[in-house]
Amino acid sequence: MSLKDAALKVRENAHAPYSNFKVGAAVRSGSGTVYSGCNVENVAYPEGTCAEAGAIAAMVAAGEKELTEVYVVASSPQPVPPCGGCRQKLAEFGKGDVVVTMATVDGVETKTTIADLLPGAFNASFM
Ligand code: THU
Repeated sequence: MSLKDAALKVRENAHAPYSNFKVGAAVRSGSGTVYSGCNVENVAYPEGTCAEAGAIAAMVAAGEKELTEVYVVASSPQPVPPCGGCRQKLAEFGKGDVVVTMATVDGVETKTTIADLLPGAFNASFM
């Protein structure tokens, strides 16, 4: 399945009763497998967990530590960029030149890279 189809499909499962804003994300791993995630909100933390974080968690739970491509989709007027926390998570599991496609459910797509989303990223080399 393509990243786009995986992200659109998982978006349907989003649990977003507080924002009513459903997001789907899919990542391709180093092995070529596609992992997907949706946002999951909860009453204690209404902002919940982002779709990108869910897709990364699924990849890591399956035993993989590198992502090579990212796709994020939401029903919004313009493609939605990953939040700050997700930019850090993406940078920890993907190289700077990894392409991140942001999309609307209507098919508008914008492409960027992890390095452009998080210039000067903190990483383990600073420790
Ligand atoms: N959200 C994501 O899942 N990914 C993004 O890139 C932006 C925001 C979610 C978090 C929350 O459930 C809702 O969208 C509104 O912020």
